[in-house]
Amino acid sequence: MKVSVLGYGTVGRGVREMICGTEGLEPGPVLVLPEECTEPFMVTDIDSILGDDSVDAVVEAIGGTEPAGSFAERVLLSGKHLVTSNKAMVAERGIELAGLARERGKAFLFSAACGGGVPFLHNISAARGSDRILSMSGILNGTTNYILDAMQSDGLSPKEALEQARELGYAEADPTADLSGMDSYRKIVLACAVAYGIQPYAAEEVEGIYGFTDADAQLIKLRGGEVRLIARGGLNENGSVYSYVEPGVFFSGTEKEVRKNFNCASYVGEKTGLITMIGQGAGRYPTASAVLRDLTGILNGITEMMPDGCRREKENNTPAERYFVRCAKESASAFSCSEIWYGDEEKICFVTAPIRVRDMHERVRELRKEGRSIFFASV
Ligand code: HSE
Repeated sequence: MKVSVLGYGTVGRGVREMICGTEGLEPGPVLVLPEECTEPFMVTDIDSILGDDSVDAVVEAIGGTEPAGSFAERVLLSGKHLVTSNKAMVAERGIELAGLARERGKAFLFSAACGGGVPFLHNISAARGSDRILSMSGILNGTTNYILDAMQSDGLSPKEALEQARELGYAEADPTADLSGMDSYRKIVLACAVAYGIQPYAAEEVEGIYGFTDADAQLIKLRGGEVRLIARGGLNENGSVYSYVEPGVFFSGTEKEVRKNFNCASYVGEKTGLITMIGQGAGRYPTASAVLRDLTGILNGITEMMPDGCRREKENNTPAERYFVRCAKESASAFSCSEIWYGDEEKICFVTAPIRVRDMHERVRELRKEGRSIFFASV
């Protein structure tokens, strides 16, 4: 199978290199920008790839929603298989692209869009037919895990840690999506689409790591805890789906041991119980290996991840959690406090009684609108 690659950045380079060493795959032309066109295998016009009948499959590794989305659509319209690592594009246009691929009898696979080298979507997709997936959770962003680990284990500042994550090729070109939790959110949304055939709309229950300070890290460490950024998704009893992203404090267990750019993705199956996968969630070769998993999957007849009839859903009926909160003393009355961890003239740190995730995020949004500084994490 001859495979072209769109984009020659961190992922695109890794993919082409791995295609060259994989039996059954042959490298086709690579689409780059005119100023990057330095090698004979590079082209600058997508039509030369779409019009090339010898190219069977195309890997989109440009990133972002446009032009990646239009290119992806044109790949399928031209009768070629499509594989992508682009979570933002799949979160926006995946349902439509899956329909197009199905109509044309072509593959549309996106393992690398969630979990980097961790075969999370791949396994959920395989498990869907044989078990009922009750819930999913994970550390799904390598950049924020790298930053949180560097802050809590090595005492680095968030800025220093982000610089390192960028140099190592983990962070997005614009790291806002990493830090705000949106990158993790897009990934859990895709996991819901694959597991349930229901893709949540962009929800408001997305909290990143901007609010986390060295002082928070020290206080939580004194209690034996460490903070990780966690994405959660699952099935409600009425068949609706919930999803959210927020920091969580872990006192023990697997998540606490997840370091550097590693991801940790779990699901609970009705029959299997808890299954956890850990591995590198970002970086050239871990991500390229997930793309190669899809390409070799096509050779073995695997063509879809998103089930037929996948739809979007607005409702986000979240469960309840208890939260660690650090805020100004005057903000504390917004919460029902069950245990105080620290208090001085200005600030207070405490654990709340159980509160619905949705209500918690809404209260924090209200306080921030009033200019209040606050950090919260599920415990
Ligand atoms: N910026 C992403 C991360 C890349 O850090 O996880 C992999 O999706």
